[in-house]
Amino acid sequence: MAGVPETLKGRSFTRVADWSPDELRMALDLADELKVERARRRELRILPGRTVGLIFRKPSTRTRISSEVGIAELGGMALYVPAADLQLSRGESTRDTALVLSRFLSAILIRTFEQAEVDEFAAHASIPIVNGLTDASHPLQALADAMTIRERFGTLEGISVTYLGDGNNVCHSLMRIAARTGMRLVAACPEGYLPDPHVFESCLADAAASGGRIDLVTDAREAVVGSQVLYTDVWTSMGQESDRERRLRDLDPYRLDAEKLGLAAPDAIALHCLPAHVGEEITADVLYGDRSLVWDQAENRLHVYKAVLALTVR
Ligand code: CP
Ligand code: NVA
Repeated sequence: MAGVPETLKGRSFTRVADWSPDELRMALDLADELKVERARRRELRILPGRTVGLIFRKPSTRTRISSEVGIAELGGMALYVPAADLQLSRGESTRDTALVLSRFLSAILIRTFEQAEVDEFAAHASIPIVNGLTDASHPLQALADAMTIRERFGTLEGISVTYLGDGNNVCHSLMRIAARTGMRLVAACPEGYLPDPHVFESCLADAAASGGRIDLVTDAREAVVGSQVLYTDVWTSMGQESDRERRLRDLDPYRLDAEKLGLAAPDAIALHCLPAHVGEEITADVLYGDRSLVWDQAENRLHVYKAVLALTVR
């Protein structure tokens, strides 16, 4: 493996927009390399003697486990800390927590509710802060999504992607990475579940610069016709459980099922960030079918996180 570029050392990854199109591509290229090295069982001691903190306010399977495994595979040590166990839960400020943890740790991944909490950590920490999901964004997921799409189609430029359902955190980050890397993304979401208009507007500018395209529609069947990637996420995100019945009703026409896959391009793939609620946003025949790259997509969470650490940790 060639040496890791120095340009992103010390930088945080709080949202996809923190990194330029070239920097995002650098991370994707390194993730591809790390995937090959792992298959060869090559040991890479990129984080010797480093400890990385993992602070969680919400449950996780992929983010937590891929982080712990990834850190270990790079020769570092992972420290999983439920936020409730920190003095943060008793009123110690984010600023003081970030200042103190910067003296012990070499990087922190945070999964929380408010994007502002991740931003505040990044503003005060002297180590890289990586967003492991907020209510507003999920940038590591977007990197893994782009990696999976590029693995299948050999490029991102001009690839047509349809996101179906709730215009949520995963949709925002997918839209941003699509806009920065030249993909053509259509988000099909019902009224009341549209992505944040500020995110959408600024993605339009990114897409204009990259040669990509971002569109927002409400008709799911129309949106999937000829598309190469059909992507969906849960209709009830973490923290929205009390709204579940309304969401099930309103989002029903947006289910990723065999009929929609049949309208897509002949080589179309199905993606889902997981966890899936089978029978709600995606049917079992699509999730477990031969067009599903969902399990590769989940595995790629490991490779992209290792790439982000290798690029950012000093
Ligand atoms: N996709 C994803 O972030 O999964 P977890 O919630 O299991 O981490
Ligand atoms: N939108 C989902 C993604 C889970 C990885 C949530 O926030 O719960």
